[in-house]
Amino acid sequence: MNNTDLSQETLILGIETSCDETAAAVVADGKRILSNIIASQVKWHQKFNGVVPEIASRKHVELISPVIEEALLEANVTLDDIDAIAVTRGPGLVGALLVGLGVAKGLSYATKLPLICVNHIEAHILANFLEHPNLKPPLIALVVSGGHTALVYMGDFGEYEVLGETLDDAAGEAFDKIAKFLGLGYPGGPIIDKLAAKGNSKAINFPRAMINTNNYDFSLSGLKTAVLNYISKLKAEGKEVNIPDLCASFQAAVIDVQIHKTLRAARERTVDEIVLAGGVAANKSLRERLKKEAAKIGKELFYSSLPLCTDNAAMIACVGYYRYRKADKYGEEIVCSLDANADPNLSLVKEI
Ligand code: KG4
Ligand code: ZN
Repeated sequence: MNNTDLSQETLILGIETSCDETAAAVVADGKRILSNIIASQVKWHQKFNGVVPEIASRKHVELISPVIEEALLEANVTLDDIDAIAVTRGPGLVGALLVGLGVAKGLSYATKLPLICVNHIEAHILANFLEHPNLKPPLIALVVSGGHTALVYMGDFGEYEVLGETLDDAAGEAFDKIAKFLGLGYPGGPIIDKLAAKGNSKAINFPRAMINTNNYDFSLSGLKTAVLNYISKLKAEGKEVNIPDLCASFQAAVIDVQIHKTLRAARERTVDEIVLAGGVAANKSLRERLKKEAAKIGKELFYSSLPLCTDNAAMIACVGYYRYRKADKYGEEIVCSLDANADPNLSLVKEI
């Protein structure tokens, strides 16, 4: 039972189906999570060592209705209590996005509730606002997930500048590919994270690509090749690969560049707050080291608890709340029409 008078709060139903999590959540006033249901599809993708888009779409179709029902039930509300429906419109897998968007449109049409289309990357950044009520823009966000690696300056809600991005692989993708090559399983990030804790990060000196370039871009494909070459060389020599050392050294090479560029962006943009967002934000070493290094230069790092780092619908409802309440800041139609289409490459920055 909810003890608060829900009629005083803005209740958003969030729906997320951009990749391989089918998720729905009810959030009050952009911060009080009444329910956050996540049906992971990982067991269906695991044997392929990665997300199979066709399987993801089919599983979303199966899971979306029960997941939404459970989110309403757990929040102890009905659609009559909801003020707006927020759904991920992109970026992501187009077939997967279409499932959530289609269901959200159907619900919006049937209930006459406003439909709010959400950018998945903005949602990862705003996930931090769910647990940190004192957090306020401007801030620098390091967004590191399975599909994205970007440094973002957030001037205000709805006001984003992408300072730099990966030129090739995303951070999570690099973790997943290395784990796949080593036969460690999927998703690779959490597995490498655990193994790295037992290894020596200085054992192998992998390249820190673009660490000294005068921009905020990243490149990870060279590091991936360096790791694969290292493993092949050892195997050819009949030597054993020390997996924990390899994981720790690879992870350190990824993290060093991310920390260096994030701190430089925070200094250059003179912001005091940094947020870590996306699935790779769950990485223990990245969280600990960035927090420590940020504190050394007087900046504060914020990150979420693990279920809010990886894909979830509470973060979608959170963006829905800010778009609904701060429509003036967004300066555009916040309510999507029923013609709205999924956009696998949806940009975080408003097209002018
Ligand atoms: O944000 P997310 O759930 O989905 C996308 O939007 O991509 O991120 C998933 C990614 C996967 O690549 C996964 O391996 C990575 O996040 N990941 C991690 C950790 N937990 C998840 N990477 C490094 N360390 C972790 N602990
Ligand atoms: Zn994501």
